[in-house]
Amino acid sequence: MRPFTHIVVVVIILSQFLSVRAEKTKSSSSQVCDFPAIFNFGDSNSDTGCMSAAFYPAGSPYGETFFHEPAGRASDGRLIIDFIAKHLGLPYLSAYIDSIGSSYSHGANFAASASTIRRQNRTYFDGGSPFNLEIQVAQFIQFKTRTGKLYKQGQGSSFPRPEDFAKAIYTFDIGQNDIAAALQKVGQEDSESVISDVVGQFANQVSYLYSEGARTFWIHNTGPIGCLPVAMPIHYASNYTPAAGYLDEYGCVVFQNHMAKEFNRKLNDTVIKLRAMFHDASFIYVDMYSAKYELISNANKQGFFEPSKICCGYHEGGNHLYCWEYKATINGTEMYATSCEDPSSHISWDGVHYTEAANNWIANRILNGSFSDPPVPITHSCSFITSGI
Ligand SMILES: *[C@@H]1O[C@H](CO)[C@@H](O)[C@H](O)[C@H]1NC(C)=O
Ligand SMILES: *[C@@H]1O[C@H](CO)[C@@H](O)[C@H](O)[C@H]1NC(C)=O
Ligand SMILES: *[C@@H]1O[C@H](CO)[C@@H](O)[C@H](O)[C@H]1NC(C)=O
Ligand SMILES: *[C@@H]1O[C@H](CO)[C@@H](O)[C@H](O)[C@H]1NC(C)=O
Repeated sequence: MRPFTHIVVVVIILSQFLSVRAEKTKSSSSQVCDFPAIFNFGDSNSDTGCMSAAFYPAGSPYGETFFHEPAGRASDGRLIIDFIAKHLGLPYLSAYIDSIGSSYSHGANFAASASTIRRQNRTYFDGGSPFNLEIQVAQFIQFKTRTGKLYKQGQGSSFPRPEDFAKAIYTFDIGQNDIAAALQKVGQEDSESVISDVVGQFANQVSYLYSEGARTFWIHNTGPIGCLPVAMPIHYASNYTPAAGYLDEYGCVVFQNHMAKEFNRKLNDTVIKLRAMFHDASFIYVDMYSAKYELISNANKQGFFEPSKICCGYHEGGNHLYCWEYKATINGTEMYATSCEDPSSHISWDGVHYTEAANNWIANRILNGSFSDPPVPITHSCSFITSGI
């Protein structure tokens, strides 16, 4: 079993508080938040080593660009969460589950590749993750409880202090695999109600975190899943001709993106409700969909090849060698997954996950608040507190 098989199988196949909208007050917009820690929740878009530590480690050429070796991340280098940590002046986050050489003094990462918000009926061996959002939140609560005890015993110096939990930033990037699962069941289940259930469960978990003292929430919506190269018919059998309207002008699969947008619309509504419920917390909704789509639709202008290109792996005439598979037999010849010469000119690293260069581009766009609602930079996201009714 090669690394990352689990991540992707999913993708390959591809209230009424509104009336009392809280008044937003920028308590002091020039004030930079001093976040002592980051706690992150998510899937392979922000997994910095969970699935690699828990199951089989990522292999080469993952990690080659920045870490010069596999680093538990589904990319050639850093992920958006790494750029967030760097921007906030904090160290890269260690995966909570990784017991070797990890540091948790400035937070922990609970994200796990293939994870969903809802429980799924799949195991690791079917490409699933056992660490859905409710488990990630349970792990966080265990982290907080146990480090708090150690602190009282004078042994907590390598962990965030108990008072840091309220001052920390809580970041989220999850939902893409829930959509991938729903896309497999189009026609068999009512995707509208599935998505409502998924965002409802997201809200429940965020509420638990609030009750545990979390106050700053930085929430990424989901990206254009239909623009992932593995979803694009260009990588299907060569005789496949998509029906008119199946693709948009950039080659993205329209109905898949439509489902992602529906998820985002409901997620936005949910965040609005959370703001109305928890007036002393800051909820920043980040429109990752638009940030990623802007890159995809302006690929050449931004110095990248067309978005359908995959840096690592081989996909032609219906034959596939996925980067995470390591090797495959194609036309009777054994082939190995290797990296392209110039990962930095590719948007997609392995057909499902973005390159370090693309992650850097996206991070640069979102960190200053230009895709945020309310439009605050991440460095000021704690001060945008909703107040009063
Ligand atoms: C998992 O299986 C159970 C029992 O068959 C079913 O009730 C539930 O809806 C399934 N969950 C998902 C996410 O498919
Ligand atoms: C979220 O919903 C509100 C209210 O409908 C809307 O004004 C806002 O533009 C939405 N935000 C995004 C990023 O779609
Ligand atoms: C395998 O065969 C297909 C169909 O003939 C061809 O398009 C493709 O280039 C071949 N790939 C390799 C790696 O030889
Ligand atoms: C954020 O940074 C991007 C990239 O440098 C830039 O294009 C955009 O105008 C900036 N937005 C704001 C609100 O500063």
